[in-house]
Amino acid sequence: MTACIVGWSHGKFGKLDGETSESLIVKAASEAIAHAGIEPKDVDVIYVGNMNGGFVRQEFHSSLPLQTHPDLRFKPSTRVENACATGSAAIHMGLNTLAAGKARFVLVVGVEKMTELNSAQAGEVLIKASYVAEEADIEAGFAGIFGKITSAYFQRYGDKSDALAKIAVKAHRNGAKNPFAHFQKEFAYEFCRTPSDKNPFVAGPLKRTDCSPVTDGAAAVILTDVGTALGMKQAIAFRAAEHVNDFLPMSRRDIIKFEGPQLAWKRALAAAHLDLHDLSFVESHDCFTSAELIEYEAMGLTAPGEGERAIHEGWVERDGKLPVNVSGGLKAKGHPVGATGVSMHVMTAMQLSGTAPGALQLPKARLGGVFNMGGAAVANYVSILEPLR
Ligand code: COA
Repeated sequence: MTACIVGWSHGKFGKLDGETSESLIVKAASEAIAHAGIEPKDVDVIYVGNMNGGFVRQEFHSSLPLQTHPDLRFKPSTRVENACATGSAAIHMGLNTLAAGKARFVLVVGVEKMTELNSAQAGEVLIKASYVAEEADIEAGFAGIFGKITSAYFQRYGDKSDALAKIAVKAHRNGAKNPFAHFQKEFAYEFCRTPSDKNPFVAGPLKRTDCSPVTDGAAAVILTDVGTALGMKQAIAFRAAEHVNDFLPMSRRDIIKFEGPQLAWKRALAAAHLDLHDLSFVESHDCFTSAELIEYEAMGLTAPGEGERAIHEGWVERDGKLPVNVSGGLKAKGHPVGATGVSMHVMTAMQLSGTAPGALQLPKARLGGVFNMGGAAVANYVSILEPLR
């Protein structure tokens, strides 16, 4: 255990007309600093997780947190990018900075303002997170990549559309309890299972309800060392934080095995001296429902090809043996790319500190797992978190 999250903030995710990445950053940063009970002058280093790539014209984001307070002027700040795992990548930069003894308090802000573009334009930006030389001509943007992965999975293991619809229903049932979520309403199984005008096919077997939405949002954390954290109001410790990158081209991998995520989970559980079943809950990267299905296998919940058991048998429901995405996940909470990894850590910290709002709070939350993924199982981050005391 080397570092802790000692302050956090999470704004409402959604289509946030009138907000800019700057306004989202300023709000998230100031709230996280206040929540930690520190002053802006106490922050030593800043990381901004932002993918951008054309979502907004303002590309250079590193100094935007300095707009929060004059005392942040001259602090070293860097923008971090690692596709949809950008938020976790920024947190890892913070952890590395602490481990190097280069800071006492690190501010990490994750942000994305996606909805200035329509879905098709956003898809054009997101497809840049594929191996463009071979994969960028696929239809439907990044959804096309997961459409292809889902078709390959169905070909090997049979049609799992029932399981995907149930994963979507679970996400929206959980998201309905989350005041920060983009979508806060339940979706019926029949609606998710059946193609319709309101739920058309988007890519391969994936329908609209199988996809995370295009969302704006920001979240922030304050990180510090364990010694300092012992004197803070709240402290959620990293029991493990692992990062595994795989080859970018899907043609170089058996893409439905999710070997990068598998290794990241294996290393994190080993580093934490834990078994998966010791965890109270997991926040997992459900950019598409099929991603969550394959992640059940990658985390070791089921054997390959049997991921559907986890949802059919209720293991991953809120009251199941390993609740997955009680926050609503990317599917219901939304997936503002640069913010997502930070959001997953904040949602986990809230659960572990017993401060999740209202009905979102789990009755027993002792150890939480986070899996955040950039690209199609390319940049893989697993954190295991627990209260420091
Ligand atoms: N799930 C459920 N409902 C959704 C939705 C989603 N992902 N996206 C939009 N909707 C709803 C909207 O709220 C709206 O509902 P309303 O008619 O009741 O107001 C309706 O569907 C139409 O919204 P619109 O934005 O026009 O839909 P769209 O067809 O343009 O976009 C997707 C839907 C799925 C194509 C888009 O959300 C998308 O591209 N998602 C994937 C994003 C992505 O690739 N992220 C990176 C992953 S690694």
